[in-house]
Amino acid sequence: MNNVFYKGTAYINGKFIETEKTIPVVSVIDGTTIGTVSSLSKEDVDLAYEGAYLAFNLWRNVAPKVRVKKIKESAENFIKEKELLATIMAYEIGKSYKDALTEVERTYKNIYETIEVYEREFIEPTIIGEDVHHVNGKTGYFYNVPIGVVLAIAPFNYPLNLGLAKIIPSLLVGNTVVFKPATQGSLVCSQLAKYFDQASFISGVFNLITGKGSEIGDYIIENKRIAGATFTGSTDIGKKIAAKLPMKPIILELGGKDAAIVTNNADTKLAAKEIIKGAFSYSGQRCTAIKRVLVTREIADELLDHMIKECLNLKVGSPFDNADVTPLIDKKSLDFNLSLINDAVEHGANVVYGGTVEGHNLLRHTLIDNVSIKSKLAWEEPFGPILPIIRVSTVNEAIAIANASNYGLQGSVFTKDIEEARIIARYLDTGTVNINRSSSRGPDIFPFVGVKDSGFGVQGIRDSLKAMTRVKGIVENN
Ligand code: NAP
Ligand code: G3H
Repeated sequence: MNNVFYKGTAYINGKFIETEKTIPVVSVIDGTTIGTVSSLSKEDVDLAYEGAYLAFNLWRNVAPKVRVKKIKESAENFIKEKELLATIMAYEIGKSYKDALTEVERTYKNIYETIEVYEREFIEPTIIGEDVHHVNGKTGYFYNVPIGVVLAIAPFNYPLNLGLAKIIPSLLVGNTVVFKPATQGSLVCSQLAKYFDQASFISGVFNLITGKGSEIGDYIIENKRIAGATFTGSTDIGKKIAAKLPMKPIILELGGKDAAIVTNNADTKLAAKEIIKGAFSYSGQRCTAIKRVLVTREIADELLDHMIKECLNLKVGSPFDNADVTPLIDKKSLDFNLSLINDAVEHGANVVYGGTVEGHNLLRHTLIDNVSIKSKLAWEEPFGPILPIIRVSTVNEAIAIANASNYGLQGSVFTKDIEEARIIARYLDTGTVNINRSSSRGPDIFPFVGVKDSGFGVQGIRDSLKAMTRVKGIVENN
């Protein structure tokens, strides 16, 4: 039992909304209730959209430097409470306290970097191209303008970072926002409303709606006021949202099955270190986690020895002990991970490290060797600490298996031969390929993109600003 209790309230049209019905949020560490969030009705959701819609005409006309000032004020309110935010995150999503603090600090830095790019490249009116166009007696002025009400939906695993990486660019360019955090993640995200409120934003510019996706999800994505959406989460939900918002600008950052290809020319010690860190940090609950290893048979044993040594260095336990591997987000996730392990073993694989449940939803990081491509683990995203090793005969076979995935987020190539690395990188059908490092989203200024079932559109500081604007032309006829 712990004795913390956090109360998360929704925030609509400049008002904190408490509801009679609330949703309990549990500690990922032991399952005890650590707080509640408002459970909004459909009427409340409508109010949020109407407020955001009305506020748009005011906010878009606020001078950019005033928008920047307000956002800086809220960022300062945010960073002042970094310890509180990290503590809630450690309970609510099980991220180690140290990593949770890093998430807050990274987000704060990201806000200032976004402002910098906005001020340098986007301050309206931005004329696209070298100059105004003069053609056939016409003078065309083309501007980046905001799109309107943006729906932003974040997943549980980076609640603040992936929330604010959507909210801030949208607000900076003049849009208003309706933000829906993941339910397990909404206690920490509901703190954000306080920071915007303290900075006295125009009512309706920022709205936070809480409620279970399974209950109000369909409703929140159907509102006619939505001008565009930016979503991070699972592929199934992302596809659902895209289907409900045809012809609207949308960014979807979805699941992944990032492969690490290790060739005969690899530094196996380096590869093992990177792969283990990439696969198991935050218990593998990262879209960019390494989720399969494709290694040539000649060096597979050598790589495996190093990987097992690296596994021994990881700490399993509580987020407050800064463990690397902490309890999974819920029992459903644990059961899914265990079912993938069983299925792989039934298809002839062997667990060479881990595989044991060591506390409340706490699965020791697990290495599974000789995984067959007939098993589910070769293709499905566990979003947990299990890593399949698939032994291949050739690099071409590794590329073929990597590309046969429905996903295409990132990939890694380990080889000391840079020409070999470049060739493999060119052939991989993913958003990004990392050479001799595990996959990762950062640095945040880089465009972040997934293809196939991993996403649509591009996130990243500059790209997110651009995605939430549209081009508007005014043509003067002389
Ligand atoms: P999720 O179950 O898809 O949930 C994501 C968000 O969607 C949550 O806020 C959820 O709210 C909401 N939601 C659920 N059903 C909805 C519906 N019908 N309509 C609208 N919203 C709905 O994903 P998750 O479990 O939080 O995150 C894990 C997944 O996200 C993994 O697949 C991971 O790879 C992916 N991910 C991708 C990236 C990337 O950048 N590519 C980054 C992080 C995570 P509730 O919590 O209330 O259900
Ligand atoms: O979970 C998905 C995140 O976008 C991954 O970010 O590579 O910085 O951990 P990261």
